[in-house]
Amino acid sequence: MNRAAYDAIAARWDASRRIFAGDERRYLDTMLAATPAGSTILDLGCGTGRPLADYVIERGYGYIGVDQSAGMLAIARARLPDVPWILAPIETFVAEQPVAGIICWDALFHLERELHEPLLRRCAEWLLPHGRIMLTSGGSAQAPFHDTMFDASFFYDSWPPERLRSLLLELGFEPLVFEWTHQPDGGRERGRVAVVASIGSKQRRVLIMPGATPPVHG
Ligand SMILES: C[S@@+](CC[C@H](N)C(=O)[O-])C[C@H]1O[C@@H](n2cnc3c(N)ncnc32)[C@H](O)[C@@H]1O
Repeated sequence: MNRAAYDAIAARWDASRRIFAGDERRYLDTMLAATPAGSTILDLGCGTGRPLADYVIERGYGYIGVDQSAGMLAIARARLPDVPWILAPIETFVAEQPVAGIICWDALFHLERELHEPLLRRCAEWLLPHGRIMLTSGGSAQAPFHDTMFDASFFYDSWPPERLRSLLLELGFEPLVFEWTHQPDGGRERGRVAVVASIGSKQRRVLIMPGATPPVHG
């Protein structure tokens, strides 16, 4: 269902996604900080590729974009024809090479929550030692729901943030950033958390979960 919806809104999405929103650039810089130049970043649910792909490529990294929406990828391909844009559902996609970084930005929450752990487990396997992942997930305990964007209906589902954090730790990720991008307001806004996490890293950062206290980042 989300695939047809993203196909339908692709042009409007792209027009609205020209620049970074909120602290996205800081999250991306944190993810890239430990990433050797020239190494490859895998973007799961890449959309039309801007601004994230543009930023990554401008900094000399290899980039692979994966998305199940042909409409979104057609726009991405028109702007960046040399990039490997792979049309695939991220829940069944299999990376053919290890990567230094993974982006799954505003895409994980489009999968049923039971699919999150297997996907994150595969990400942990694909990442090179000390590789980093950057993702968003839902920001409150809630049932799966639908919401509207550009007059189209989209499916959303996430584990509560506390469960996501436990899951990441179990999989060997060390969160470097775990903070709100959108706080739940008890109404339509169910909240969203941003995560940057390192696999197999020896670094230690202070981590405070979203909750009653203000969120922080490492
Ligand atoms: C909110 S957009 C975010 C796009 C991009 N990550 C960004 O930050 O601009 C969500 C994207 O995830 C893709 N997506 C959603 N569910 C997917 C799935 N199961 N497999 C692959 N892509 C998916 C959509 O087609 C869409 O391009």
